Amino acid sequence: MNSFRVYLAEPFIEEEEINAVVQALKEKRLSQGKYVEMFEKDFAEYVGTKYAVAFNSGTAALHCGLAAKDIKPGDEVITTPFTFAATANIIVLLGAKPVFVDIDPETLNIDPYAIEGAVTSNTKAIIPVHYAGQCVEMNEIINIAKDHDLFILEDAAEAHGSSYKGKMAGSLGDAGTFSFYPNKNIVTGEGGMLTTNDKELARKTRILRNHGQDGRYHHVDIGWNYKMMDLVATIGLVQLKRINTILKLKLAQAEYYNKHISKFDFIYPQTVRSYNVHTYMLYPILTTTQAQRDALKSILETAGVETRIAFPTLHLQPIFQRLYGFRYGQFPVAENASETVLCIPIHASLKREDQDYIIDVIQENQEMLRKLE
Ligand SMILES: Cc1ncc(COP(=O)(O)O)c(C=O)c1O
Repeated sequence: MNSFRVYLAEPFIEEEEINAVVQALKEKRLSQGKYVEMFEKDFAEYVGTKYAVAFNSGTAALHCGLAAKDIKPGDEVITTPFTFAATANIIVLLGAKPVFVDIDPETLNIDPYAIEGAVTSNTKAIIPVHYAGQCVEMNEIINIAKDHDLFILEDAAEAHGSSYKGKMAGSLGDAGTFSFYPNKNIVTGEGGMLTTNDKELARKTRILRNHGQDGRYHHVDIGWNYKMMDLVATIGLVQLKRINTILKLKLAQAEYYNKHISKFDFIYPQTVRSYNVHTYMLYPILTTTQAQRDALKSILETAGVETRIAFPTLHLQPIFQRLYGFRYGQFPVAENASETVLCIPIHASLKREDQDYIIDVIQENQEMLRKLE
C-alpha cells in the first residue's frame, strides 16, 4: 500500500468507538444481536423511515432490497453507469439486465429526463445513485416510477445525511441502502443498512439476510448470510451520534475548496443544486481535458496527495462489455466524466493546512496544466 502525506479518506475513530467495541467483546456479543437492533432503530430515526435493516455491507443491502422485489431473469433495472460496480453487479447477480442511462454533466447523477426513453415492458426497478453525497432529482424519478409501476431503490451508499428538498436520502424512494465502508461519512468497517417505510419489504429483507429463515431452522426462502455483527454495530451507534459533527467539518472543507478551486479556470467543482444538502463523501473536481486530469493526478500523487478516479464508467468495464456488448460512445456524458473527474481528499480529520497544501500544489503547476488543452 502506498503511503501518502494526505489521504483521500480516513475513518473518524476516537476512544468512544474503541471502548464500545471492547465493551461488546467483554459481553461476548459478536454476531447479530441487541447492538444491531439498537443501530437499526437509531438509523431509522435518523433517516426518518419506519424501518432500517442492517447488513454486513452496502452491497448486501442492495442485493436483498432488489431480491425482495422478486427481480429475476428477463427483468431490466435502470441505473447509472457512473457508479461503483456493486450497484450494477447485484442486478446481474439476480439474472436481470442493467440498463444504463447517461448522467447530467453538472451533478454527475443519472439524468432523469433520459430515463423515460430507457423504460421497456421488462423494466421493473430504478436504482438512482446519489453520487458523492448529492441526491438525484428524485421528483422526476418518482413520477416516472409511478407512471410505469417501478420500484425505486436509492443507492445512498455515499449519502448519509444528504437531503433533497428537505427530505433525507434513504427516505425518498421505496427503499434506500447505505454503506459503512471505511471511506464513507460514517463507518462500521464493512457494513450496510436498508431503510424503508414498507413493512413487507423490511420483513422480506430480514429473512433474505439470514439464510431465508423466518424463525430458527424454518426456511421460507433461499437467502444469504448477510448479517451485521454486533461488534461493529457498536461502532455505528457511536458514529451516528457524531454524524452532524463529521458532516459539518466536511461541508466547511468543501466550501473552502469551492472558493479556492474556482480560481483555476481549467477546474470545476461538481454543481450542487440549491435544494440539495450535499454531504461530500467524495469531493470530485472536473478538468477541461483528460490530459489535464491525468497530469493533475500524477502531480498530486508525486506530492504525496492521494486521489481517485471515481468512477471509471461501468459500461466500459471488461465484464459489462463482454456480457452486454457496450461500446465507447453509448454514454458520452459518463465517458467524459470518467475521463476528467478526480476526487481529492476530504474527511473529518483533514486539516486546513492539508487543503492549502493541495491548492498550492495545483497553483504551482497551473501554467503547465492550463496548456494541456
Ligand atoms: C455507490 C455505491 N454503491 C454501493 C457500494 C457498496 O458498498 P459496500 O462497499 O459497503 O458493499 C459503494 C461503496 O463502496 C458505493 O459507492
